[in-house]
Amino acid sequence: MSAMREKFGDISLVYIGRTPTVVLSRFSVIKEALVHAGVEFAGRPTVPVFDWIIHGLVKCHCGHLSGRLESESQWDLRIKKLVLFISMLGIGLSGVPVSESCGWGQVWQKSDPETTFFEENLFMTIADLFLAGTDTTATTLRWGLLYLSQDPEVQERCHQEIVREVGYDRPPSLKDKDRLPNVEATIREIQRVGNIAPICVPRQVTKDTELCGYTLPKGTQVFCNLSSMLCDKDHWKFPDQFKPVNFLDDQGRFCKRETFIPFGTGLRVCPGEQLARLELFVYFSVLLQRLEFIWPDGTGTPDLAGSFGLLRTPLPFQVICQSRDTTGQSK
Ligand code: HEM
Repeated sequence: MSAMREKFGDISLVYIGRTPTVVLSRFSVIKEALVHAGVEFAGRPTVPVFDWIIHGLVKCHCGHLSGRLESESQWDLRIKKLVLFISMLGIGLSGVPVSESCGWGQVWQKSDPETTFFEENLFMTIADLFLAGTDTTATTLRWGLLYLSQDPEVQERCHQEIVREVGYDRPPSLKDKDRLPNVEATIREIQRVGNIAPICVPRQVTKDTELCGYTLPKGTQVFCNLSSMLCDKDHWKFPDQFKPVNFLDDQGRFCKRETFIPFGTGLRVCPGEQLARLELFVYFSVLLQRLEFIWPDGTGTPDLAGSFGLLRTPLPFQVICQSRDTTGQSK
């Protein structure tokens, strides 16, 4: 995918089986489509495997929620339990209950006929949270351990920064983020090279649409070629290497990059972006504070190509997690 732009240009057409699919491979074109023509590009095509997962696996595993609910009070109780569970996830990470921050607590207790909270929608919400929200972050963590184990210098720089700014007496938390530019840059760089959603999540145009002089009929499937942007030579100092300095300026300050959109953009941008960023920061900074990741001798060179299914994931690997000596320095 990353070489596609050079070969076929900013907009190209490929057939996925019999489905013609438009591939957008330049940031300005993706922005034009997903942001400026947000409504027209806000559709999602039907992906049979997703239907199978949601209507098969999710319903099966959440069976206790799927039976017909006999009374309103039973419904309320189950909804309350689910909201409580989601809240607990939120409290653990940010101190702000998710149910409060997004208002689900109130919405799910409504029982008017206009409500969007019927059984099918509940399954979709569970699927969104647990399918879209778990493997994505876990896969990024796995890419992180793989790349970090290849680069002791990057690990050491992050570790020293954490020891200097936080010490060992407590784990790093979100309030430390601004003081840990190297950690932040390293996490973004892991996301850049990990590139877990190389074609974003497929989109579909909702009506006949013009884009850069081409007409896309209603229903056309669209892929955003995030791979080509994440290693675009025009935008990155080191497009083909793992270098957190890609996200640092000359003074070593963390800087955002406009073309870095691993969570997509526009109306259907990943709704879990903030949660994922928070999780990645907390997990990586806590790990780098106390552990060192070492590539075991005799296990050959790592496979950085990974495999691509729903996500681009690393192949299974072994890594040594060695405790650091935390007795010496403290802030
Ligand atoms: C590193 C972590 C994650 C990455 C890289 C990621 C990436 C993405 C991408 C690229 C999209 C498509 C956006 C678009 O079409 O413009 C997406 C959609 C989505 N993500 Fe995430 N995501 C992550 C974590 C999460 C989490 C933690 C949740 C929920 C708790 C979540 C829930 C969703 C949902 C529900 C959608 C579909 C939104 C829609 O169709 O309107 N994601 N994600």
